Amino acid sequence: MKINNICCLGAGYVGGPTMSIIAQKNPDIKVNVVDMNADKILAWNSKDLDNLPVYEPGLSKVVKEARGRNLFFSTDVNKHIEEADMIFISVNTPTKTSGKGKGYAADLKYVEACAKQIAEVSKSNKIIVEKSTVPVRTSEKIKDILTSYNTNVDFQILSNPEFLAEGTAMRDLEIPDRVLIGGDNTIEGKKAIDSLVEIYSSWVPKKNILTTNLWSSELSKLTANAFLAQRISSINSLSELCEETGADIEEVSKAIGMDSRIGKNFLKTSVGFGGSCFQKDILNLVYISRSLGLKKVADYWEQILIINEHQRDRFSKKIIKCIKNRNLKPKVLILGWAFKKNTNDTRESAAIYVANNLLNKGISIEIYDPQVKENQVNFDLSNLNPDYNKSLVNFVFEPFQNISDYNIIAIMTEWDEFMNYDWKTVYNGIKKPAFIFDGRNILNRELIKKIGFNYKGLGRE
Ligand code: NAD
Ligand code: UGA
Repeated sequence: MKINNICCLGAGYVGGPTMSIIAQKNPDIKVNVVDMNADKILAWNSKDLDNLPVYEPGLSKVVKEARGRNLFFSTDVNKHIEEADMIFISVNTPTKTSGKGKGYAADLKYVEACAKQIAEVSKSNKIIVEKSTVPVRTSEKIKDILTSYNTNVDFQILSNPEFLAEGTAMRDLEIPDRVLIGGDNTIEGKKAIDSLVEIYSSWVPKKNILTTNLWSSELSKLTANAFLAQRISSINSLSELCEETGADIEEVSKAIGMDSRIGKNFLKTSVGFGGSCFQKDILNLVYISRSLGLKKVADYWEQILIINEHQRDRFSKKIIKCIKNRNLKPKVLILGWAFKKNTNDTRESAAIYVANNLLNKGISIEIYDPQVKENQVNFDLSNLNPDYNKSLVNFVFEPFQNISDYNIIAIMTEWDEFMNYDWKTVYNGIKKPAFIFDGRNILNRELIKKIGFNYKGLGRE
């Protein structure tokens, strides 16, 4: 079946960029991205392309090309559901904060609300595509909801998880390692798979489009994230061992990564992984395993999160200890708030946890990030700790204006501009040697020491 009209529920970090590319590559298909958040839709429709709700290199160019041609952003959810042949569900699936599975299981209330709304509004047959990351067998739940509210039309369900990483989303979408499509092994199911394969075939080579059954597709997404996060916790755990032994984590990582069976990607040590997905997806995997009575499997995957938290705490303690032992003025300049470079997303960013640890010790912090706004910083801090001490927090736009005020600079995000600063000029105003805690190991350690700073990297002391 040829698809002419797509509706995507959810205009977030996945829905926005993904639909922009689908629309750009398929000018004959009308793509409506809808969201119940009116401010977000307003921002997606904004004339000022620098003000889109999602910051992603290359995104504004694609939006500029397709928006108003065959790409539209709207709050009229019902209208666009009704018109569509294919509906993507691209809403958030956070960790549950109450009820059964609290703190571990994925909260599917947004996905379920979408299914109900689709069922209530639909008057013609539709293909429903799970784009959100969901626990294995969620499509069964969606099917139950659809058929219990609407028996007049046929719904086919596909799983098409998204593998893009923020900061490189447009490249990841343009040349994906693979596109994964799971569907029912029935004639109708296969037809539905074919129609989604056709959409991706506009730009993705057929050999990179993998079709599977529904459950394999759902589980592959969740576990792909767990594997990636596992590598980071493995290398981060070694960074501590390096500090105790005199080995250098950068050298160890290079040596390990040159084994082609392992590979060099995702072996960069850091102050801990952040982002909206790794933690929640691993928690969910732990929950699924535990629910099935697989205690050892659950404990194994949970350890990745324990190491991640340990790495953030370890980094905070180094700073606190330095201030205490040297009797320094308790004030830290935090460079970077986003969970990684080239995104304005701060969800689960290590910076939030480290800042909170410092505030709990009465240390004041000044924060700078090239893409994150001040209200987001306040939101993140109060979300973690509603009673945080606001008087200790300052958001700055010119981080080096009062540079001699700080004894400690902590790099939390690997933004290129931090790496490319003229650190020599930065140092000029400082009377006594200040400490740089390089939470991303992005600076040239030798150069920084030569200038006169005290350099503290991870796994390389
Ligand atoms: P997001 O929070 O940025 O966007 C979700 C959007 O859905 C929000 O704007 C929200 O208002 C909207 N929404 C919620 N319920 C709705 C409803 N009933 N109708 C219309 N809109 C509704 O989330 P995201 O980062 O885009 O993630 C979405 C899903 O994709 C999650 O399951 C996530 O795990 C998965 N994922 C995310 C990434 C990523 O890099 N962010 C990558 C791959 C997969
Ligand atoms: C991750 C996956 O990479 C995507 O494939 C997946 O689609 C996505 O999760 C998702 O499901 O949401 P993302 O979280 O956007 O993407 O970003 P990553 O590049 O994976 O980085 C995650 C965190 O790990 C960041 O804080 C990053 O700085 C950190 N990281 C990454 C390291 O500390 N070391 C590394 O070597 C790589």
